[in-house]
Formats: sequence, C-alpha cells, structure tokens
Amino acid sequence: MSKVHVKICVGTTCFVMGASELQDLEKFLPDDLKDKVEISGAACLGLCRDENYGEAPFVTVDGEPLSNATVNAIVDKIREKL
Ligand code: FES
Repeated sequence: MSKVHVKICVGTTCFVMGASELQDLEKFLPDDLKDKVEISGAACLGLCRDENYGEAPFVTVDGEPLSNATVNAIVDKIREKL
C-alpha cells in the first residue's frame, strides 16, 4: 500500500500559529498509522497568502490543503485517504 504524504508547513506564519507542535506529529500518530504515513516539512506552502484557505497552520495531506491543522484533524484526514 502506498503511503499518505503529510507536508507540514514550517514557514513563519504557520510556525507562529502552532505548526511547531505539529513537528511532533509522528509521535502522536496512532500505532496503526505509523507505517502508513510519510511526514515532511515544507517551506511556506503559499496558503497563508491565499484567503481562500482559512487560517494557519497549514499542512497538506496527499496534496490536499488543511487549514487550522491539529494533530486530530490531520489524523482524520489521513484516515479519509487510506
Ligand atoms: S507560512 Fe505556512 S503556508 Fe505560508
């Protein structure tokens, strides 16, 4: 099975708005997801400059932008993708 790719924005806006906590996402993933997800950091994804996308912090899950990202919201989105 291919992995779900999660990109965590570590640009300034997202970092200040809480992405720093998301850096530990890997630790908080439920055990059944740990080997199904690939996590990487990304410089500003450009979403913070586009008012269509809501509030920082942003991540993308398989390319789909998620605003106001929290660990729970990311996990839900990952489950949707699997
Ligand atoms: S700083 Fe995260 S999308 Fe711009």
